[in-house]
Amino acid sequence: MQPLQIGSVSIPNRLILAPMAGVTDQPFRLLCRRLGAGLTISEMVSANPALRNTRKSRERTDHRGEPGPIAVQIAGSDPQQMAEAARHNADCGAELIDINLGCPAKKVCKAAAGSALLRDEALVGRILEAVVRSVDVPVTLKTRTGWSPETRNLANIARIAEASGIQLLTVHGRTRACGYQGEAEVESLAGIREQCALPLVANGDIDRATKAIEVLNSTGADAIMLGRAAMGRPWIFGSMAAALRGLATTAHPASDQLSARVSEVPRAPSMAWIGAILMEHLDRLYCFYGEQRGVLIARKHIGWTLRDLRGGSDSSAEGEHLRQRLMATTTAASQLDLLRKHFADCISADCISSGVLARSADSTDGLSDFASLAPDIHWIRHQGVNR
Ligand SMILES: Cc1cc2nc3c(=O)[nH]c(=O)nc-3n(C[C@H](O)[C@H](O)[C@H](O)COP(=O)(O)O)c2cc1C
Repeated sequence: MQPLQIGSVSIPNRLILAPMAGVTDQPFRLLCRRLGAGLTISEMVSANPALRNTRKSRERTDHRGEPGPIAVQIAGSDPQQMAEAARHNADCGAELIDINLGCPAKKVCKAAAGSALLRDEALVGRILEAVVRSVDVPVTLKTRTGWSPETRNLANIARIAEASGIQLLTVHGRTRACGYQGEAEVESLAGIREQCALPLVANGDIDRATKAIEVLNSTGADAIMLGRAAMGRPWIFGSMAAALRGLATTAHPASDQLSARVSEVPRAPSMAWIGAILMEHLDRLYCFYGEQRGVLIARKHIGWTLRDLRGGSDSSAEGEHLRQRLMATTTAASQLDLLRKHFADCISADCISSGVLARSADSTDGLSDFASLAPDIHWIRHQGVNR
């Protein structure tokens, strides 16, 4: 089993969490690493030095407690500023610098950064060279397949990246114009594999092990990156790794490497286990952002997890009632309480319907499971709230 090597940096497995602004903050990254991601990348930070000391940038570059390698993504269009941003982040502990050449966000593109740069290959070359020259740590590049289907230039971008000293290329299989529409394509990635010696990471719409195998087989990529599939499901890395291990010998020899050395996550996590992980996530959010902001930020993660547990949507009156109550909570204690009750109800309903409680009067399988797995709630302990 070989780890993925990015220059001097070694990644324990080949399942990578995509950078996602507003999602992949320090609490989420920590959880994903613990649950099987081989590498996580910070939300993008602007290269503009005027924005360096904003609360947003400071929070986005806070990596306290994270296991290495620490990877920071930078976005901008001025080679000098990008080089300085890379140096600044490396000085602050980044062990990998990732350049964002794929972001379609209007705010980013208006400033001619992100995927807008795909239209100016000469500028891309200047940025990549300046950044690589400015730091001792490996520099990686994340891009789309081009600006539009008519102007796909991934092959040129890959050539420029290789010549500039970039050490790994991640490709989201869509053009900027495609946004998130249609299915991510694999043909462009397969073409790049033929022409470019850089380690290649495939990204776009990968949400299960069989899809990962399919993408690997058709692109020859060295690793895969998961974005939206991890929202509300930070354990997807460990679950996917477990599934990939099962498929390793038959489907794709590389899947064995993909899944190497991850923590033990059940292939099909129980409701109790998921409840405990969600509690841990909330606890991390309260600790990182403080109670007030932590509770607000937690709402979207709770929403994603609950939506996922209900198979993608829930328009039932019960689901709507819970959603409204969760939206109204403003304290950590009430948010945790509501969820604890919700999960306990779900678990006992599951137990009853599967006959667990009927078989043994004192059996509390699911419930005790939940209680024993529930992590220490550090924030609550710290506040001295007795729950
Ligand atoms: C909410 C959100 C925020 C994102 N922020 C970033 C970002 O900061 N930098 C970046 O390179 N890509 C960003 N992306 C794109 C993802 O990294 C990824 O390339 C894309 O979602 C496709 O992968 P997926 O289908 O696995 O989600 C973002 C995507 C989403 C949904």
